[in-house]
Order: sequence, then C-alpha cells, then structure tokens
Amino acid sequence: MYKAFYSLKRNPFEITPDPSFLFPTRRHNEALAALYYGVRRNKGFVVLTGEVGTGKTLLLRCLLQLLNQSDDVKYAYVFNGRLTPLEFLQYIAGDLGLPSSGKNKSELLLQLAGYVVSRGEKKLTTVLVVDEAHHLSTDILEEIRLLTNLETADAKLLQILLVGQPELDDKLDSVDLRQLKQRIALRSHLQPLDLIETKGYIERRLELAGNPAPGRIFPAETVAAVHLHSRGFPRLINTICENALVVAYARQEASVTPEMIDGIAIDFRLGVHTAPELKRLPEVDVKKAANTLLELYAHLQSQKTHEETPANRVPIQVPE
Ligand SMILES: Nc1ncnc2c1ncn2[C@@H]1O[C@H](COP(=O)(O)OP(=O)(O)OP(=O)(O)O)[C@@H](O)[C@H]1O
Ligand SMILES: [Mg+2]
Repeated sequence: MYKAFYSLKRNPFEITPDPSFLFPTRRHNEALAALYYGVRRNKGFVVLTGEVGTGKTLLLRCLLQLLNQSDDVKYAYVFNGRLTPLEFLQYIAGDLGLPSSGKNKSELLLQLAGYVVSRGEKKLTTVLVVDEAHHLSTDILEEIRLLTNLETADAKLLQILLVGQPELDDKLDSVDLRQLKQRIALRSHLQPLDLIETKGYIERRLELAGNPAPGRIFPAETVAAVHLHSRGFPRLINTICENALVVAYARQEASVTPEMIDGIAIDFRLGVHTAPELKRLPEVDVKKAANTLLELYAHLQSQKTHEETPANRVPIQVPE
C-alpha cells in the first residue's frame, strides 16, 4: 500500500530469505566463500552457525543458486533437522533421485555411499546441505560421521554443509561427537550487523526495491534507532522497517522518525537491551555499621572462649 508513496517497485523488507536482496557484509561474504570453497575444493565437512535471523538460510540459498550453475554438482537440501535417522536418509535419497521406499537404514546408507562413490569416479560433486542442523539428533550426526568417511586419498567424495544456530556448536563440542568435530574442514559464524552495516543494509534494500534516495526515508538518526532496537539482527531490522513504512505512510510522512521506531519496538516488545538501571541502595551510616560489627564480633569471641573450656576442647595431636 505504501509502495507508490515511497517510489518502491516491490516490498523492500520481506522476511523470506531472497538472494536478490543479499547485502554482502564482510562476515556474510566470508561465510558464503567458505561454503562455496568447501564444496568446490572437496573439503568435506563445513559448518556455519549464527544466531536466529542472522542470514544463514539466505546464504544457503545464495550458495545453491551458485551451485545450480554448475552441471557437475548435485545436492540434497534438508531444511528440517527434526527427522529420525530413517526419515533423514529417505529424504536425502529422494532429493538425489534415488529409490527409497521399503529400504531400511543400512540399505539406504549403502545405496547413498554407492551413488556418491560412482559420482566421485566420474569427477562429479555430490553435496549434502542441512539447514536447521542444530535440531539434528546425535544418532543422525553419527550417520553423518559415517558419510564423511567416503573419500579418496586426496579428496572427500561427499561434501557436507551443516548450518544452524549456536546450539549446533555445543552439540559438536560434546564428547560423543568429538570424531565428527575433528573432521570439520571450515567453520564460520555469522554475527548481527553493526551500525554502519545496518545503514548500508537498509539503504541497499530500499534501492533494490526501486527507491533512488533511501537516506530520505530512513535518515541517520532513524537508522540508529533501528539498530538499537534490532541489535543488528537482519530479520528484526526487516520487521521494524516494514512496520515503520506502514506507520509513516499512514501519517503521510516522507521520512520515518526515531519516535516511530521506538513505538514499533514497544509494540513488538523488543525491549532494548541496555544495562539494567541500578536500584539506589538506602544510605548507610558507615561508622554506625562498623561499630555494630565490632560489637557483634566481640560478643562472638567471648562466647567462643566461654565454650572452649579445657574440658570440652579437643587436644591437638602433633605428629612426632
Ligand atoms: N546479509 C544480508 N543481506 C540481505 N538480507 C539479509 C542478510 N542477512 C539476513 N538477511 C535477511 O534477514 C532475514 C532472516 O534471514 P535468514 O532467514 O536467512 O536467517 P537465519 O539465520 O536462517 O535464521 P534462523 O536461525 O531463524 O533460521 C531474511 O529476510 C534475510 O533475507
Ligand atoms: Mg534459517
């Protein structure tokens, strides 16, 4: 509804991960490069983690777009980590176009291994991509470890990319999975955006959506308010900015103000994460308190000497 008013051709702040909106921060660039390099150089096992809404799925979609351009790459893309080991293997087989019905776990593993090896012999690349990998059970991670064993003398035959929230790191750190952890070839972590990146992010999205002067809609002080309330998490930036455009349009304002952003943050209960206000303690009369302590101490000492009569004192034994 606000699109024409702000000279936009499409919605700039959709929360679905759309690769055409990628704003390449240094971290996002490095993480995408690690994923792509890991696959193309047959590194085997690559892990990407990041907090909720930092752009992991977006990067995966960018990667899959890149991989789709190569005829020699085939991938299975699992985007649900809450599967049983059997469902997991069935899903992978199905995605790679292999028959899976009626097969048990070992048969599926064997079939998958055969497929990966025969592709490897033809110098073709096979990739297993798992999003939401923090939900994977230890059992499935153990199956994945078996799959990382498919290798020749100098290269891994199955490229495995695990992507998930920081709990994935914790899982991989567990004692049970130390063998899998040792096989990780590349690892990256996405962070929320800083203030400068947040500004670039908002402007890029507005530009890509068709607005030639994004600084006018979101002036510097408004961007600062967005950064404060979103803490730099891209998904939250989108939600705040989308709502801000609706509010500003309703008021027929050319620019979004910091107050509008504050109001949206309250509506969304985003609760600014600043240091909690220290409660003022009642004034203490230090001299009086010290005297009370001294009195108490003297009282305790006198009780102790009273109790420790020679009759009830345990003699100290000095070893010879
Ligand atoms: N670098 C970026 N450039 C453009 N948009 C981004 C970027 N990073 C994140 N986003 C946007 O932020 C939103 C959340 O991203 P995404 O869904 O990829 O997060 P996620 O890390 O997968 O979150 P979750 O842990 O909840 O699965 C999406 O709209 C995505 O397009
Ligand atoms: Mg995601």
